[in-house]
Amino acid sequence: MSADNALVAAIERLKQERNAVVLAHYYQAPEIQDIADFIGDSLELSRKAASTDADVIAFCGVHFMAETAKILSPQKTVVLPDLNAGCSLADDCPADAFAAFREQHPDHLVVSYINCTAAVKAQSDLICTSSNAVDLVRQLPADRPVLFAPDQNLGRWVQQQSGRELTLWPGRCIVHETFSEEALLQLKLEHPEAEVIAHPECQVHLLDLADFIGSTSKLLHHTESSAADTFIVLTEPGILHQMKQRVPKKRLIDVPGLDGCSCNACPYMRLNTLEKLHDCLDTLEPAIEMDEPLRQRALEPIKRMLALSR
Ligand code: 13P
Ligand code: SF4
Repeated sequence: MSADNALVAAIERLKQERNAVVLAHYYQAPEIQDIADFIGDSLELSRKAASTDADVIAFCGVHFMAETAKILSPQKTVVLPDLNAGCSLADDCPADAFAAFREQHPDHLVVSYINCTAAVKAQSDLICTSSNAVDLVRQLPADRPVLFAPDQNLGRWVQQQSGRELTLWPGRCIVHETFSEEALLQLKLEHPEAEVIAHPECQVHLLDLADFIGSTSKLLHHTESSAADTFIVLTEPGILHQMKQRVPKKRLIDVPGLDGCSCNACPYMRLNTLEKLHDCLDTLEPAIEMDEPLRQRALEPIKRMLALSR
């Protein structure tokens, strides 16, 4: 048996022993997606975390995702293979600075993208993900101004789609801000038949060049439902692993970062490895712990999101 096969077998054994479920985001490395019990976007993963009857959730994603799982399922042990798997959007929005921003806009409803800390969620009226943000903002009472945090690119897109004026917190994703417009235009010239599909965390000038915009799951489903046979994909390349399996005959083209760098691979998501997944199932560490009053405050706007999401 190869070292990798032995590791996979050991993880499967630990999953049984621990009554654990492995949840993975589409940006995880292919070998992690292959061993996961469920792969999804942020909204689907939250729903799964809330409904699973496993005792242990091994969350192969980033910290705010595992934290959301803990908020929804406090009685379960939630482990994250690498505790340093953060997110630039969550880092861009410290809770105390956010509290000061809210105080400047006391009449505003606060909608926060799920890519934020529990302490920011606890200050929010409603949480959204990239798959339901437009729909949820459209449902807000028309007479209330709205503050949207922390992703300004997603916020601008939601503003455009919903027709609602939003006061934006200036956060951004270091991964989705690196795509080169020059490279995209060149690829469009080389492949005029291709559809450009993009995640809404991309900058607006790139979204303006896209034929379809959506969450990771929506992008994946679009490659299946669209009649096009070539796609230029503007999001983290981890998604290509599932796309290749779902549409093996279609052509998928990755867009390079500025100066040809490969900085469109999320450095946080990629901290998780099979070895670390094995170790966290073995030791049940690092586990997500949370202060109960904070958890309860953060839970309310997540529950509202789940109730309002279609
Ligand atoms: P999804 O909402 O598509 O899962 O995206 C989350 C994310 O972190 C994208 O960078
Ligand atoms: Fe955060 Fe961007 Fe990585 Fe998504 S891709 S987890 S938004 S840093």
